[in-house]
Amino acid sequence: MSITFDHSTKTFYLDGKGLTYAFFINDGGYPAHLYFGAPITHDDIRFTLAGGSGSFVPTPAGNDDTNLSYMRFLPEYGFYGTGDYREPAVLVENGGGDRLSDLLYVSHEVLPSKPRISGMPSLDGGETLVIHLADSVSGFRADLYYTVYDDASVITRRAVLTNDGSSPCALHRAFSFSLGLPSQDYSVITLHGSWAAERNIETIPMHHGVVSVDSKRCTSSATLNPFMGIIAKGTTETHGKAYGVNLVYSSSFVLKAEGTVGGDTVVSGGINDFDFRWILEAGESLETPEAVIAFSDEGIGGMSRAFHDAYRDHLISKKHVFTPRPIVINNWEATYFNFDIQKLKDIVDAVEGTGIDTLVLDDGWFGVRNNDRSGLGDWFVNTQKLSGGLAKIIQHVHSKGMRFGLWFEPEMVSEDSDLFRAHPDYAIGVPGRGRCYGRHQFVLDLTRADVRDYIVSSVNRVLSENAIDYVKWDYNRNVTDIYSLGREKERQSEFAHRYALGLYDICERIVNGNPNVFFEGCSGGGARFDPAMMYYFPQIWTSDDTDAEERTRIQYGTSIVYPLSTMSCHISAVPNHQTHRITPMSTRADIAHLGATGYELDTSAFTDGDRETVRLQIEEYKKYEQLVLRGDLYRIDSPFETPYFNEMIVSKDKSEAILCVYRRLSVPNAEPKRITLAGLDPSRLYRIEGLDITASGSTLMNVGIAIKYPKTDFWSEIYHITQAD
Ligand code: GLA
Repeated sequence: MSITFDHSTKTFYLDGKGLTYAFFINDGGYPAHLYFGAPITHDDIRFTLAGGSGSFVPTPAGNDDTNLSYMRFLPEYGFYGTGDYREPAVLVENGGGDRLSDLLYVSHEVLPSKPRISGMPSLDGGETLVIHLADSVSGFRADLYYTVYDDASVITRRAVLTNDGSSPCALHRAFSFSLGLPSQDYSVITLHGSWAAERNIETIPMHHGVVSVDSKRCTSSATLNPFMGIIAKGTTETHGKAYGVNLVYSSSFVLKAEGTVGGDTVVSGGINDFDFRWILEAGESLETPEAVIAFSDEGIGGMSRAFHDAYRDHLISKKHVFTPRPIVINNWEATYFNFDIQKLKDIVDAVEGTGIDTLVLDDGWFGVRNNDRSGLGDWFVNTQKLSGGLAKIIQHVHSKGMRFGLWFEPEMVSEDSDLFRAHPDYAIGVPGRGRCYGRHQFVLDLTRADVRDYIVSSVNRVLSENAIDYVKWDYNRNVTDIYSLGREKERQSEFAHRYALGLYDICERIVNGNPNVFFEGCSGGGARFDPAMMYYFPQIWTSDDTDAEERTRIQYGTSIVYPLSTMSCHISAVPNHQTHRITPMSTRADIAHLGATGYELDTSAFTDGDRETVRLQIEEYKKYEQLVLRGDLYRIDSPFETPYFNEMIVSKDKSEAILCVYRRLSVPNAEPKRITLAGLDPSRLYRIEGLDITASGSTLMNVGIAIKYPKTDFWSEIYHITQAD
C-alpha cells in the first residue's frame, strides 16, 4: 500500500490491495478525479481528460478558459455556485448570505497514522492522505481524508469542514465525499426492507439524473441500508467490476449516484441534507462520517469480501471479532413478557450439557413492564416478576457454568414510566404539541447531555450492581417530532446528526465503559445494521423474522456488505412465530449456523431427544465456527433469484471450507443439481465429508458436484470440506 504524489503531473496515486485510486490538481487548483479500479502503474493518465461537456459551461471565477470549467472534470469534492451543476458534496451559506464555494488545493500531507474522528466510529489502520482545500474569499476550508489499505480492497473517505472566516456560516449540505466514475454503464444495487424483511436486494439501472437512497429517521433503518453498489454493465456475482459505498453512520443519511450531462457518474453522500442546517461559528469545524468505498473486479462477491475484510480487520472490536461467540438461549419467543424466576431456571436447566452457554433475559425484567406499553426508562428490577432480584437468576445461571445476558432499550422511554412522569421533557417533542407514538413509546433526546447522563448512569448502575456478562441493546422505534429543548431555534436542524453523536457518546460510556461485557446490537430486529453500530456491537440481531426460509434472503442480502460473524441468528420454534411456517429443525440450525448462532425457543419443554439434537448441532457448529468468524464468503445461488440458497465459506489459507446447500420446495422428478464450488485452491486436493468425494479444487470449481435433494420442503445440508493432500 502506498500514497504517491507525482510533482510533475500533480497526480496522487493511492495503491491498496487490488486497487489504485488516482486524482490530480489541475492548472486552476481544482482536485480532479482520474481513476479508480484495478491496480495500474503510475503513468500520466491525464490523457483521459478528453474534454467533457463543452457547451454552456461556466468557467471558474476570474479565468475565462473553458478548459478549466469544473464541469469538464470529475470532482473529488464537488461544491456549489461556481459553475458546477452536478450534485455538490458541500453547500455552505457564507456570512454574507451567498452560498458560493470555490474550494481549491492549498497543500497536502500523508499522516503517520489514521486519526480518529472525534465522537464518531471509524476504521483504524491504513495509510492516510489529507488534501487541504480552501475558499480564498470566505475562508471556508475542507480537508479531505483518504485512507488506503494493503489488506482490504477499500479506501475510506471523509471531510472535515472548517469556518476560517470571521463570521458564522451555515452548512446546508456536508457530505463525506464525491466519487467520479467514467460512463453511466452501471446498475445501482440497494438494500431495502422493513421490519422482519430486512435487506432485500434491488438493482436499478443508472440513468441521467440522480439515483438515491436515504433515511430521514435519525437511524440508518431497515428501509434502506446506508449502502449503494455501483456495478458495471455485465458484472455478475463472480465476474466484473463492482464498486460499493457504505457509510459508517447510524443516523439520517443519503447516498446519491448522478448520471451527469458529461456521460459520467458522480457518487456522493453522507449526513442527509434533508432538514439539515449546521451553524459553524468562526473557527469551528464539522467532521463528517466516514464512507467506506470498496472495489473489486471479481464481481459483487469480491466487493462483499472487500467490505468483510475491512470491517473484521479494521472496525469491529479486536477483542471479540474472531473470538468464539456466546451460544445463546434467549427467552423472548419462549415467554415474551410472561416469565418468572422459576420459568427462567427451567429454560436454563433444560439446556445443561448441550453447549448453550449464555442465557439472555430479554424485554420485561424491569420497571412495570408486563407488555410493551410501559416501563421503558425505569432500569430497575421488576421484583414482582423476579422475586429475589436479578441476583437470584444470575447466580443460578452462573452455577451452571453459563453466562448471563440482559436486554436494554437505553434510548427509549414509555409514557407510563417513572422516568417520563419525572422528566417528560427528556422525550423528544415540540413544546405545545403531542408526540407521535411508535410501539407506544417515545425516544429520549440524546442530543442533551443531562439525558445522556441519566441513561449512562442508570444502565451502568445495573451493570455494576449485577454480574452481567452480555447486553442486548435494542432500539424499537424511529424519531419523530424533531425538536430539542437543549438547542436554540436556529440549531434545530442539527438534530439528526447530533442524535448520532449522542448515541455514540452513550455507546462509548456504556460499551467501552464495561469492557468485560459482550454487547449485541438490535433494532426491532435488524433495523440499525450499519458499520458504526458494528464498531460497538460485534454482532447485531439480524431480524425478528426467525423463519429459516425467510432468513435465507435476509442473511444473503445482509452479506452483500456485512460479514457473517456480525449476523446474530437464532434457531426458533415451529410453527414459526412470524410466518407460521414449519421448517425442519436441521434446516433452522444450518441457516442459523451461517452467523453467530443461538436459540430462541422454550427449552423447558425439551425432551431428551431435543436436548441431544441441540447438543449435536452445537458440536457441529463448533467444528466450523472459525470459518464463520474469519472465512471468505462465496455466494453461489441466490434465494432472491432461484429456489436455492447455496454458499461457501473458505478459510483464508484455503485448507478448509463449508458448503451450505438449501432448496426451498420439493418438486417432482427433480434431477440432481450441479453446483460448481468456489474459492478453493485449484491445485489442491479436497475431501467433502458426507458426500464421499475427493477431488482437486479445479475439478470441484469447474466440473462441480451433484446434489440430490430428498423429497422434502426447505431441505438443507452443510458439507465440511477439508484439504486432503
Ligand atoms: C425487538 C427485538 C426482539 C425483542 C423485542 C423485545 O422487537 O428485535 O428481539 O428483543 O424487541 O421487546
